[in-house]
Amino acid sequence: MKIYVPRDSAAKALGADDVAAAIAAEAKRRGDAVEIVRNGSRGMIWLEPLVEVEKDGTRRAYGPVSPAEVPALLDGTLGTLGRVEDIPFFARQTRLTFARVGVTDPLSLADYEAHGGLVGLRRALGMTAADIVAEVTASGLRGRGGAGFPTGIKWETVRKAGGERKYIVCNADEGDSGTFADRMIMEGDPFTLIEGMVIAGLGTGATKGYVYIRSEYPDAIEVMEAAVRAARGAGILGAGVLGSGHAFDMEIRMGAGAYVCGEETSLLNSLEGKRGIVRAKPPLPALEGLFGKPTVVNNVLSLATVPVIFEKGAGHYAGFGLGRSKGTMPIQIAGNVKHGGLFETAFGLPLGELVNDIGGGTASGRPVKAVQVGGPLGAYMPVSKFDTPFGYEEFDGQGGLIGHAGVVVFDDTADMLKMARFAMEFCAVESCGKCTPCRIGAVRGVETIDRIRRGDADAKGILTDLCETMKDGSLCALGGFTPFPVMSALTHFPDDFAHHKEAAE
Ligand code: NAI
Ligand code: SF4
Repeated sequence: MKIYVPRDSAAKALGADDVAAAIAAEAKRRGDAVEIVRNGSRGMIWLEPLVEVEKDGTRRAYGPVSPAEVPALLDGTLGTLGRVEDIPFFARQTRLTFARVGVTDPLSLADYEAHGGLVGLRRALGMTAADIVAEVTASGLRGRGGAGFPTGIKWETVRKAGGERKYIVCNADEGDSGTFADRMIMEGDPFTLIEGMVIAGLGTGATKGYVYIRSEYPDAIEVMEAAVRAARGAGILGAGVLGSGHAFDMEIRMGAGAYVCGEETSLLNSLEGKRGIVRAKPPLPALEGLFGKPTVVNNVLSLATVPVIFEKGAGHYAGFGLGRSKGTMPIQIAGNVKHGGLFETAFGLPLGELVNDIGGGTASGRPVKAVQVGGPLGAYMPVSKFDTPFGYEEFDGQGGLIGHAGVVVFDDTADMLKMARFAMEFCAVESCGKCTPCRIGAVRGVETIDRIRRGDADAKGILTDLCETMKDGSLCALGGFTPFPVMSALTHFPDDFAHHKEAAE
């Protein structure tokens, strides 16, 4: 009997290690031959620890499982959820990037290959660099870190850049509130990220890669390091990738905890051992990046999606989605929501369907008031905008952004003035200090919101002006995008900014 107990850190936080230990102890006591596989999470966090028992070729799911329920689990008397694939939250997904997460043993290369792993890389090894980049361009893949810049164009810039040394840098500094997709991939299917980075190297002429992982992700760091060692041992990384004449190797680096190190130039400085401060662009990292060399800086999800594009073909991938938002997006549903977790789907699903049908509405049972999409720099979307399809241009048209696709739900008890103040305070705390609109503006923003709270009638206009200045004058997205949550809160929830509220309190 094979039993799958996730090693994903969300599952561990909910007791997966204790459940795994209880299964091992109980099986030993009974003399049962049980193989425990520590897989990734299937992404239904409210069911974690979600345990799957494989018998006669069928995997049955149970969850959430407690250590006390382990004897019943082994007896076969514990109530089952049936097959994971039949649970509605899972059944409605289109899993391309996340196809293997939760299915395989993350550190088994044999399992990886048995589920389509390395097919893409083998295909890429038979292509020219120009054709590899053209395939990525044809897939329509756009930067999954948030900006949505076409990945193929970025790779082409690096491919065409001169110079002997080029780098692939994976941005795994997943700092957006309510996001966890990068972590889940690294913990649940690390070889897909490695494969994607090797293909990026083949396409651009880079021979060295770095994964910059935030220090708050110790489990992801551990799994990625073990996976890199295994990939090197199997000849996927090294002097001749899978026996070819192409060299590519990579290293894992740990971040130091600043949100702004998720901004690509700040990340590069940090990677070079310098203070994580933003560099002015141009020059673009694609031309002068790590150590001044041409560098692809891509998010985990962008690179982890590359193998499936090469495995199934660019046309297959581009066949999903809406308008210029091609393919699928691993959406992370979090906050005050009944069914939080990872939901990968083709672009185009309306926001309200995600929150109400898939997420099941709020965990508190109260009406939804707002949804923040795109991390701490994303706009607060009111219920009146719930028909907005999930897509880059569609959200942009509504004054929002999808960012890294974190969706955080708030019920009607949320005070949007407080949320706006939090956004400014976050910016003030995390500012790298390089430019004035952000460094000074965020501090003044907090003070101005406090004036609004005290009933100062002029302060709303000042806040609006300040947001315009921050938006237009900041050097990077931290200062430049903070106006999104602030102005969306002010615009869509004016009652929370009305001074009669304060007077009544
Ligand atoms: P950006 O729009 O300045 O650049 C996007 C990417 O395209 C960069 O890598 C840039 O170097 C590249 N690029 C632009 N023109 C190019 C060209 N002609 N050739 C080659 N490459 C080119 O956006 P930025 O500042 O990199 O990212 C902002 C986004 O980051 C926001 O949308 C926000 O959602 C997201 N973000 C994500 C976080 C996370 O945790 N994933 C945290 C904070 C922000
Ligand atoms: Fe630094 Fe803020 Fe300016 Fe970005 S916007 S460069 S974080 S001071």
